[in-house]
Amino acid sequence: MSGTILVTGGAGFIGSNFVLRQRSCKNRIVNLDLLTYAGNLLNLQELNGDPDHVFVQGDIGDRALVRKLLEDYQPVAVVNFAAESHVDRSIESPESFIQTNIVGTFHLLEEALAYWKRLPAERGDRFRFLHVSTDEVYGSLGPADPAFTENTPYRPNSPYSASKAGSDHLVRAYYHTFGLPTIITNCSNNYGPRQFPEKLTPLMLLNALEGKPLPVYGDGLNIRDWLYVDDHCEALSLVWERGNPGETYNIGGCCEKANIEIVETICALLDEMAPESGYAPHGSLITYVKDRPGHDRRYAVDCSRIERELGWRAKESFESGLGKTIRWYIDNREWVESVKSGSYRDWMVRQYTGR
Ligand code: NAD
Ligand code: TYD
Repeated sequence: MSGTILVTGGAGFIGSNFVLRQRSCKNRIVNLDLLTYAGNLLNLQELNGDPDHVFVQGDIGDRALVRKLLEDYQPVAVVNFAAESHVDRSIESPESFIQTNIVGTFHLLEEALAYWKRLPAERGDRFRFLHVSTDEVYGSLGPADPAFTENTPYRPNSPYSASKAGSDHLVRAYYHTFGLPTIITNCSNNYGPRQFPEKLTPLMLLNALEGKPLPVYGDGLNIRDWLYVDDHCEALSLVWERGNPGETYNIGGCCEKANIEIVETICALLDEMAPESGYAPHGSLITYVKDRPGHDRRYAVDCSRIERELGWRAKESFESGLGKTIRWYIDNREWVESVKSGSYRDWMVRQYTGR
């Protein structure tokens, strides 16, 4: 498929990986991103000078701006990545999560609906509003519970997951009430290049390279289902092209791991890949710290629908994906230094000092 896509949040982690992939498929991208602390134009530097990547700094809640972008560029799809995305920040300060994830998505939906209604029938039939969401909306699993399916009831436990659940409900309602051709994806924990180092994988690997403590919450036995970001982006492309409007697709890596196992694997890989750091064995830096309030114990995603209907399955193995990720952070020191700005340092002090 080719055409123009309005991508929101395309300067963040997953959004930028998706934009780079779409440009290699020749789709024109209009990239609307507010450039919060998590947005970074260095993620998109490969596209400098590319006339088919149009970057616009702005808010998904700015209706006049969204209206103008839809009218000017006539996209065949909106792909909504824009969000506040970090659970710990949502515990410290939830307001921006409500504002962007719920209110912002509402404004984006309103403008997409008005635009879609004006499209001629044939283009209207092809239009899609793809909303990128999380498995965290389903709540927490016990050790023997089956993985989340698309029919698992929503039971969000953090302000972050509650705000994503709210946005999912609105997206679903705009399909059922107004017929806007929306699709929702609920995805597990991503890792890979360009992830902001407040999340587990990059935080641990960058701390380890600097000989800083590796702060594992609680007993380290909370489980997440890990997915390499390129696999996620491939799934999103398929869902956009061939998914059914009104449908939800779960996306996961079939790769359940306890946090301590992730951290130990990162340390072992760093011992091989970065012996010159001076901190090997990096595992000696592991430090157990006070648990996150309301910390969900286990997530696991049943991807059988997307496998069956769209023939997608994650390709990257955990060890190779983690190796590629570590290599990217070692090779991209300029990026790493750029994100460790004053506000990042302030967050690390607030979040981890005395924990
Ligand atoms: P991220 O925090 O790295 O990036 C979010 C981007 O959205 C940033 O570039 C930021 O500047 C932008 N943004 C924030 N508020 C905005 C606003 N009001 N208007 C426009 N842009 C705004 O997040 P990510 O990890 O890339 O996640 C992308 C999406 O995927 C989110 O919706 C998230 O909930 C979802 N998701 C993420 C994961 C994961 O493991 N990272 C897993 C499942 C789902
Ligand atoms: P995170 O990357 O914040 O993703 P999420 O909470 O959305 O799943 O955290 C992944 C897991 O790692 C989660 O169980 C919390 C844990 N964690 C730590 O143990 N230490 C840390 O410093 C961070 C950021 C996370």
